[in-house]
Amino acid sequence: MIDHAAIAAQFPFLMETEGDVPIAYLDSGATAQKPYAVLAAMRDHVALHNANVHRGVYPLAVESDALFEGARERIGARFGRIPEETVFTKNATEAINLVAHSWGRSNVGEGDLIVTTLMEHHANIVPWQMLAEATGCELGWVEVDAEGQLDLASLDALLERKPKLVAVTHVSNVLGTINPIEEIARRVHAAGSLLLVDGCQAAPAMDCRAAAEAADFYVITGHKVYAPTGIGVLFGRRDLLAAMPPFMGGGDMIRTVTREGATWNDLPFKFEAGTPPFVQATALAAAFDWIDDIGIDDIRAHEHGLVEQTLSAFSQMGDIKVFGPASADDRGALVTFAVDGVHPHDVAEILGRAGVCVRAGHHCAGPLMDELGVSSTTRASFAVHNSSEDVDRLVAALGDVRRIFGD
Ligand SMILES: Cc1ncc(COP(=O)(O)O)c(C=O)c1O
Repeated sequence: MIDHAAIAAQFPFLMETEGDVPIAYLDSGATAQKPYAVLAAMRDHVALHNANVHRGVYPLAVESDALFEGARERIGARFGRIPEETVFTKNATEAINLVAHSWGRSNVGEGDLIVTTLMEHHANIVPWQMLAEATGCELGWVEVDAEGQLDLASLDALLERKPKLVAVTHVSNVLGTINPIEEIARRVHAAGSLLLVDGCQAAPAMDCRAAAEAADFYVITGHKVYAPTGIGVLFGRRDLLAAMPPFMGGGDMIRTVTREGATWNDLPFKFEAGTPPFVQATALAAAFDWIDDIGIDDIRAHEHGLVEQTLSAFSQMGDIKVFGPASADDRGALVTFAVDGVHPHDVAEILGRAGVCVRAGHHCAGPLMDELGVSSTTRASFAVHNSSEDVDRLVAALGDVRRIFGD
C-alpha cells in the first residue's frame, strides 16, 4: 500500500502552482519529476565526489569511479544483467541506434527482414528504417488489433520468414498496452531471430526483470524513471555485444591507439566513447533504490488504481474516446483519449490552465496515428506521486473543455 502523502512530500515540484492552482502533473510518460533522493545523489556526486572516471588514481577519482561502476552493477543486477552487459548511453534512442548501427550493419544485408510493430515510438522505428536504407534490408510490421493489442498472428506470419531481429515495445506510450514479452521472446527465438525490447514506459511502472532477461537487447531511458536526462541503458547479451563493433570512436572505448589504428576496450566500455554520464548514472541507481524502497509492485498497484479510476470516469462521459485496451490490467500507467469535436491541443491547453498537465500530439508514433486515423491525441500518464484527486481534477477540467466547446 502506498503512503501517498509521504511520497508526494518527496517531490519539490509539488510545491509549485499554476497561478494559484496546484499542479496535477499527468505527463510522467513524457518525463518524470525527480524526488529529493535522486536530486541529493546528483548533488553529492557533483559537489563531493566529482572527478572524471576511469582515469585517475587519486582518492577522489577512485571514489567517483566506485560510484559509477557501483551504479552500473546495481542497475544491471536489477535487470538480470552483469556489468559487461550494462552499457550506459545518452537515452533509449541512442541505445536503439547503437544496436541498429553496430549490430545491424555487421549482421544485416539486402533481402534480410527486420520486424517492428505499429505501436512503436519513433525511437524504435527510425533507426531500423535507416538500417534498411543503408543495407537494403526490408522492414516488416506487426499489426495492432481493434483492442489495441499486438496481433500475434501477424507476428507469427512474419516469423516464418526468419527475420534477423524483432523490435517491440514492452508498454506502448500511446495505447498503454503491456505486451507479453516472454511469450513474444519464445516465438522470436524459436524462429532463430533476436529480440530487442523498448522498456521506456515499462521501467517506471512494473517489474521488468523477466522481460529484460528474455530479450536479447532491452533498453530504458533514465528521465522516465525519476532520474535525470542524459542517461539511458542498453542491456544486451554478452556474446552479442562482444561480437559487435563499436558505435562511436574516442576516449575510453579503446585499448590502444597508434598511427596505424586502434584496438577496442573490453565490454561495456567499447560502447562508451568519451566521458560517460557518471553523475547521471549515480542518480539513476539512486532512482532505482528509491523505487525499490517503495516497491515496484506497490507502485504498479497504485498506478493501476489511477488508470482504472480514469477509465471508469471516462466511460461515463459520452464524448470521450479512449484508445487502447479496455482493462487497466492490460495497461501501463497511461490513458490516451480524444474529446469529441475538440482538438487535442485545445484540450491540453484548457487542462493546463486548470493546472492539469497532459500531453497532446502524435506522441512520436506516426504509423500508429495513421492506423488510428487521427493526427494527434491527448494523453494522461501517471506516476507514484499522483493521487485520485489528480484524476478528479482531470475529469473536472474536462468539464471546462465541454463548457467552452459545448453547443
Ligand atoms: C516507448 C518509448 N520509447 C522510446 C522513447 C524515447 O525515449 P528517449 O527520448 O529518452 O530516448 C520514449 C519517450 O517518449 C518512449 O515513450
